[in-house]
Amino acid sequence: MNFNLRTAASLALLGLANAFTYERLDKNNALLLIVDMQEGLYSLARDFDASVYKNGMYAHAALGKVFNLPVVMTSSSETGPNGPLPDEFLQWYPNAPLIKRQGEVDAWDNPQFKQAVIAANKTQIILGGITTDVCTTFLALSLRDAGYSVWANHEASGTTTSYIRDMANDRMRAAGVQVVSYFAIVSELMRDWRNTPGAQEIFPVLDEYLPAYGMVARAHRAAVNNGTVLAGENVLP
Ligand SMILES: *[C@@H]1O[C@H](CO)[C@@H](O)[C@H](O)[C@H]1NC(C)=O
Ligand SMILES: *[C@@H]1O[C@H](CO)[C@@H](O)[C@H](O)[C@H]1NC(C)=O
Repeated sequence: MNFNLRTAASLALLGLANAFTYERLDKNNALLLIVDMQEGLYSLARDFDASVYKNGMYAHAALGKVFNLPVVMTSSSETGPNGPLPDEFLQWYPNAPLIKRQGEVDAWDNPQFKQAVIAANKTQIILGGITTDVCTTFLALSLRDAGYSVWANHEASGTTTSYIRDMANDRMRAAGVQVVSYFAIVSELMRDWRNTPGAQEIFPVLDEYLPAYGMVARAHRAAVNNGTVLAGENVLP
C-alpha cells in the first residue's frame, strides 16, 4: 500500500473521506438573477463568439419562464454607454424587480437590490452577467458571504478575454460558487424527464437554446414518424 492509499484508508476509517455534500438546485428554492446583461456592455463579452454569447445570455434569462422561478434584474448606469437590458427580458418579466443601479459596481451594495433578493426568500441563487470578473464575481462573492448557495452560469457571463474569464471562474469556485453550464442548470432544476417541467416542456426549450440536443430530438422524431432502417444499418452491432 503506498502512502496515498494508506492515507485514504485511514481517512475512511475516521469517516472523513468523501466528506462532500452535493447540493443540487431545487426549482422551489431558487432565484434567478439577470445582472447587467445590457446592450452596451454586450460588446465587452469577447470571450465568446457574439452569437454564442447572445444565445447563452437569452437562455439564462429564459430560465425563469421555463421553471417559473422568481427573477430579479439589475442594470448599471443605463443612461450611459452601458445601455438598457434587452426589451425581451423586460417583456418576459414585467412584474420582476428591475433595480437600475446609479453607481454601485457590486449589486449587493445597492440596498434596493439587496432587499429584492432577501424578499424572494430563496437560499439558492442562479446568476450570470457582464462582466464575469466584475459584476458577476463581485455579486457571487457577496452572496456567498451572506450565506447563499450560488450557481454561476458560465455560458451567461461574458468578459474581455478567456484568460480573464478563467481566472474569474477560479475565484468564484474558491469561494464555493458552483460554476456550471446552462445544460447543467436545466437538468438539475428538472431532475427527472418525467417531472413537470420535464420532457414535454424542456425539449422545445433545448431546441431553442441548445440545438445540439434539440436536433437529436428532431432526428428521433423524424425517425419514429417516418424513418426506415436502411440496408447496412441493421447489420451494425
Ligand atoms: C420563507 O421560506 C421559508 C421556507 O420555504 C418559509 O417557511 C417561510 O415562511 C418564508 N418566509 C416568508 C416571509 O415568506
Ligand atoms: C414519409 O414516408 C413515406 C414513405 O414511407 C412517404 O410517402 C412520405 O412522403 C414521407 N413523408 C414525409 C413528410 O417525408
